[in-house]
Amino acid sequence: MATKELIWEKVANTKEELVFAENNIAVTELNGKKICIGIFNNEMFAFGYSCPHAGGILANGNFDSLGNIVCPIHRFKFCAHNGRNLSGEGYYLQHWPVAIKKDGIFIGIEKSKTWFPWF
Ligand code: FES
Repeated sequence: MATKELIWEKVANTKEELVFAENNIAVTELNGKKICIGIFNNEMFAFGYSCPHAGGILANGNFDSLGNIVCPIHRFKFCAHNGRNLSGEGYYLQHWPVAIKKDGIFIGIEKSKTWFPWF
């Protein structure tokens, strides 16, 4: 399988710059669009701001005990690692790799998708 070429976009200078709510989810912007950054078990995940089912605001959701993202509206669950809808409804949550570097926190976007088709 070919490796996808990524472009790394900086979303924060430090982790402290992101404002995490009690649910360990922060909202930031990626090229002017809101996305969520979540932390579970000291791992950082980047995923869409809106639920692919009916637009629930995932920043108001939570991680379950296994680290899945749970939408606050109809409680569908999404794998934080691959975006798959784990509760079986067939939806897919946009997500991106996160890199924490000396000079900031970066989100990896596939080069072929830099026109942000998920919004
Ligand atoms: S809007 Fe998220 S599960 Fe329905």
